[in-house]
Amino acid sequence: MNVLVLGSGGREHAISWKLAQSSQLNKLYVAPGNAGTGEIADNVDLDMMDFDAVKHFVLENAIDIVVVGPEAPLVEGIQDYFLADPLLSKTTLIGPDKKAAKLEGSKEFAKRFMDRHNIPTAKYQSFSKSTLSKGYVFLEKLKPPYVLKCDGLAAGKGVLIIEDLQEAKDKLKSILQGNAFGKAGSKVVIEEFLKGIEVSMFVITDGESYKILPEAKDYKRIGEGDTGLNTGGMGAVSPVSFVNPEFMEKVKNQVIIPTIKGIKKDGLNYNGFIFFGLIKVSGDPYVIEYNCRLGDPEAEVIIPRIKSDLLHYFEGIASGTLSECDVEIDERAAATVMMVSGGYPEKYESGKEITGLGKVTGSVVFHSGTKEKDGKVVTAGGRVLAVTTLASDLETALTKSYANADSIGFDKKYFRRDIGADVMKPKQKA
Ligand code: AMP
Ligand code: GLY
Repeated sequence: MNVLVLGSGGREHAISWKLAQSSQLNKLYVAPGNAGTGEIADNVDLDMMDFDAVKHFVLENAIDIVVVGPEAPLVEGIQDYFLADPLLSKTTLIGPDKKAAKLEGSKEFAKRFMDRHNIPTAKYQSFSKSTLSKGYVFLEKLKPPYVLKCDGLAAGKGVLIIEDLQEAKDKLKSILQGNAFGKAGSKVVIEEFLKGIEVSMFVITDGESYKILPEAKDYKRIGEGDTGLNTGGMGAVSPVSFVNPEFMEKVKNQVIIPTIKGIKKDGLNYNGFIFFGLIKVSGDPYVIEYNCRLGDPEAEVIIPRIKSDLLHYFEGIASGTLSECDVEIDERAAATVMMVSGGYPEKYESGKEITGLGKVTGSVVFHSGTKEKDGKVVTAGGRVLAVTTLASDLETALTKSYANADSIGFDKKYFRRDIGADVMKPKQKA
């Protein structure tokens, strides 16, 4: 089979790395890709938001499967574009259509979906410019901290957690007036703050059946001890120690099954990955968000733990036989440490030469923001490399990832040294 992966980050490198191991693979392309994907696939200089360009590439190269890494093309309707064109009928695109992708693209749509299908989530109301004063009244009824969510995609920055009531009101006004987040903030969901511990769950589905993939925990803040600005993610671990069989049963029965049934009942056209952002409150799961894709850096720990052939799942989606696919998960622990450019998530420099990649042993380095320049690998983004290790236990995996991260060099490199520390089982005292 010929496969085209869309995207350029560590998630897409991890997906491509796994697909490259499939005996069913003929040719693998990544658009636009990075220096890492360039070593295992053909990078294609293609803008994934230019659906006509994607179509021409697919037809010229007899692509059987298109895997969409990030959410933007899905939210913009790349699946609808593929389904509407008879010339593309032989190609299966992995990802939901525009309406189904609103589970990620619109917080209000997601909350209504959860309400309709009795899926546990924080209590909420949603407001627009014309209902601003009602928003103030709702805020007054809630206890702090106040959670304000822009309805639309806001590059991961559209969720605000505010302690002070007046500040929450001011922020609500500013967002709804279009000052803070533009169109993404034309509606705002205000919801009850849930206090608990977060975990990410993933399934792959054809809209009828589903397969549960390994869970992961990511570390979003730039600073150690979960301090400082939010980032795309500074590292991840899988499995997550507090996800015990009892909690998993609840997730399956209260969240996953109702979501799949809800998708069917609502007639949503969904295939691909569902990413459940969950929070565990007093032993029970609540959905914080849906994403219509894999997470990044979560993909860099869950994909290495999937023993089964990923391409087999995609083929199962194409042929309607996903239910027959086995899911074999590696019992070992995976950890990834994200190496970033100094200054990220604010201003940072790119084009810095990366050294030491050849010295890495016992880990896999997924490239997040790199490119090849004059035969060298240089930095090309805030998040640069995700150093992943699989080992018998989390501590060993982390030790190895850190040793390798230490041996890789680039100007102003930075990474957190406390990934996984909060979920590590305390060491037995001698
Ligand atoms: P989201 O983009 O919806 O995942 O929100 C971003 C982050 O805000 C989440 O990962 C949580 O840490 C936090 N968050 C969102 N909603 C809530 C909530 N209702 N209660 C507590 N924390 C929340
Ligand atoms: N790491 C969180 C995300 O991919 O949304």
